[in-house]
Amino acid sequence: MAHLFITQRLVPGALELIDLEGHDVAHRDRPGPIPRDELLARVGDVEVLVCLLNDRVDDEVLGAAPKLKVVATIAVGYDNIDVGAAHRRGIKVVNTPGVLDASTADIAVALMLGARRRTSDAEAALREGRWTGWSIDEHLGRDLSGATLGLVGFGRIARKVAARALGFDMVVRHHTRHATGVDGWTSSLRELASDADVLSIHVPLTGATHHLISAEVLASLRSTAVVVNTSRGAVLDEDALASALEGGRLWGAGLDVYQGEPSINPRLLAAPHTVLLPHIGSATVETRRAMCTLAFTGALEALAGGEPANLVPPPES
Ligand code: DGY
Repeated sequence: MAHLFITQRLVPGALELIDLEGHDVAHRDRPGPIPRDELLARVGDVEVLVCLLNDRVDDEVLGAAPKLKVVATIAVGYDNIDVGAAHRRGIKVVNTPGVLDASTADIAVALMLGARRRTSDAEAALREGRWTGWSIDEHLGRDLSGATLGLVGFGRIARKVAARALGFDMVVRHHTRHATGVDGWTSSLRELASDADVLSIHVPLTGATHHLISAEVLASLRSTAVVVNTSRGAVLDEDALASALEGGRLWGAGLDVYQGEPSINPRLLAAPHTVLLPHIGSATVETRRAMCTLAFTGALEALAGGEPANLVPPPES
């Protein structure tokens, strides 16, 4: 019998899908990240810590948990966890790759469409009583059809976005550091940006990707291009994006993630032509349940000494 601690409320019905028979499960069944002092106080006898992407599990937390064997995050991104420290302490980390690819790709496409067609501007005009009737030159957007999609990163989610984009008759290119062997690859992020009508970000947040989409990269984009971010807010320099939007140097932006969320950079809130969502990439009932199931399944397998497919590898040194 192992002692599991779940830091936050889960999706309704998710726990019933998981066989935790024989384990001692403590569930802080409340929404939102666990306060740090509570987390530190509660992990003392925990063997499996189940957290969410907004719980910070750093070396101090790991050090306060001498019995900890597995950290399971119900997310694909794990930038909230000090994976290097976990490995040094012999603690396994599992996440939820794969099961959220389609729903996250769907939101990326929704943001692309929204930003290209400026749907938030049009809806605001309607809601605020500024729509006086149809006219041929109002709320003109830009087509997706025929536009070039530049994918930054080419993992599972990016590939799902690429498949959807082909259905919109887009031209798809991608940038990764190492050649993928797939048509449309470029080693140059600047080149990708200068060629893209839609630049969509699909890399994890690491030391190397922090503010990867910099003022310089944004300056390479055409003034008719849009930026879409469904990965992590800090991959994008938000002030640089706000400046580009304020200066009319970009057509728009569609964002689902923010540096420092749930606080939103006030310049982004005020910037023109943005579609802003509150980190809902994977937020469907089906996907969130699948994420819960995968995190727990992997955690129990890792606890039993196995090597689940969703084991997070040690960071590259
Ligand atoms: C993740 O799992 O990392 C996503 O950001 C959740 O939507």
